[in-house]
Amino acid sequence: MADQRDLDFTYSLIDKIFRLSLGEQADFSGAKFDGDFSLTLEQAQAQKHDFIADALDISAGRRMLDLGCGWGPLLADARRRGATGVGVTLSSAQAAACQKHGLDVQLQNALEVTRETFGPFDTVASLGAFEHFCSPEDFAAGRQEDVYRGLFENVAGLLPEDGRFYLQTMVFGRNMIPHERVSIDAPRDSDEWYLALMGQQFPGSWLPSGLDQIVRCAEPHFRVVSESSGRLDYIETIARWRQRFAEPSLKKLLFKAQLVPRYLTSKDFRLAFTSGVSANTVCFERELLDHHRIVFERVPRG
Ligand SMILES: C[S@@+](CC[C@H](N)C(=O)[O-])C[C@H]1O[C@@H](n2cnc3c(N)ncnc32)[C@H](O)[C@@H]1O
Repeated sequence: MADQRDLDFTYSLIDKIFRLSLGEQADFSGAKFDGDFSLTLEQAQAQKHDFIADALDISAGRRMLDLGCGWGPLLADARRRGATGVGVTLSSAQAAACQKHGLDVQLQNALEVTRETFGPFDTVASLGAFEHFCSPEDFAAGRQEDVYRGLFENVAGLLPEDGRFYLQTMVFGRNMIPHERVSIDAPRDSDEWYLALMGQQFPGSWLPSGLDQIVRCAEPHFRVVSESSGRLDYIETIARWRQRFAEPSLKKLLFKAQLVPRYLTSKDFRLAFTSGVSANTVCFERELLDHHRIVFERVPRG
């Protein structure tokens, strides 16, 4: 699993730039354009929230858990709908930002949330966090499916019979190369290099091999209600993020200046944040990566 240090590297370092570029409670996961790229980023993210609210019945009086809540967009949306939300993240900056806005967010490992942690929930969501639950070391040790099975078991234990779990995650795509070939020393622009660059941006994280693996690990507890690929929508989402991050602002410039010493002293930082390319975009375009939005429903306990 990516630990707090890894997640602080990926998310807390960009906290201020993220909030200045996208807003205090913006989404940092693929939006739902449904192919209509005339929508604004905010409209496509709102469309995603509506879809999730419908699928999970996020409405007045309901209690929702968000595993890996980021800057709290889904929790804020649940609050607007009259539901109660609890979120967990392992990024200290995200937890602080959410708490500042009155959201119930804890710095807590999502993989360890059980009924004893916060009590039962009517419904659970997790967007863009499953990617971090298995580390390259877990994968190499053959523990990947144990990690996923453990998570599904815990989530099932939080839910009532027929309770729903929305999971949105990247997976390796149909053109994924053998993992031993992934290397930052491979030629620039090769599949091997782009995948290694992603590893620099998301240290401690290794993706599921595909939808089949996720569904198999969920199976003792959940059935799939619906599934759709968000790959093309994610490519568009990233393009919109990159435009926003690039928009000039004095505050952002001042913040970036504070990161110069890190830039000068850390090769990991330079590779992760200043490579000048979007490894995710290229990996999605080449179908080294895919993306799934899955609505699960708990099956009766056997
Ligand atoms: C790509 S962000 C997505 C944030 C949010 N769900 C959204 O859609 O905007 C991934 C989130 O997962 C969280 N995360 C990853 N692994 C975690 C873990 N083991 N426990 C808690 N949070 C985790 C990160 O801290 C971050 O908040």
